[in-house]
Amino acid sequence: MRFAYGATRWVILTNRYAIKIARLRPIRPFIRLSQLLKTGRVIETLEKHDANLMKAVLKYLGAGLRANRTEYRLYKKYGVHNDLAPTLFSICWIINVQLRGEPCGENEVRQHSLWQILGGASFVEAAADLRQPKQFCMIRTQVCLADYGLEILEPVLAAYGR
Ligand SMILES: Nc1ncnc2c1ncn2[C@@H]1O[C@H](COP(=O)(O)OP(=O)(O)OP(=O)(O)O)[C@@H](O)[C@H]1O
Ligand SMILES: [Mg+2]
Repeated sequence: MRFAYGATRWVILTNRYAIKIARLRPIRPFIRLSQLLKTGRVIETLEKHDANLMKAVLKYLGAGLRANRTEYRLYKKYGVHNDLAPTLFSICWIINVQLRGEPCGENEVRQHSLWQILGGASFVEAAADLRQPKQFCMIRTQVCLADYGLEILEPVLAAYGR
């Protein structure tokens, strides 16, 4: 068994499964807030999550739950036509269970159907996070996207699926 530590989720890796547990970020925001106060970028950073500040704070704190909810939903809707690591089930978005793959290298990831698309100009923000080998994994002989908990991916999956 191995553990991986994502920005929004803790992941327990067993032989077959990647168990993704939403982090509720109870401590991190305070550390981050003090950093932002020093640089005077509190409002600017929160507004990236939502124009309404209260909603922005809630979205920030619940980012792990949102990522799990989105991943579960997108797999049900688009998983058949896109190479996504299968999300088998979700327990209230707190815990998602996905098939585990093996780590991929830069060359393998380039074979993924979404790699080139995510390099396009319209996906600059999402691409910075997603176009990294650690977001993909190899399941049997197929390169799959393992981290797809971003709403911005929905139109891409809908438009470019097989
Ligand atoms: N299906 C999987 N198979 C193998 N490893 C996985 C799988 N899903 C996730 N991982 C590992 O767990 C790490 C964190 O998972 P994931 O990227 O889904 O979480 P995250 O919180 O969205 O992370 P971040 O925001 O830092 O990208 C991945 O970088 C990868 O190393
Ligand atoms: Mg990730």
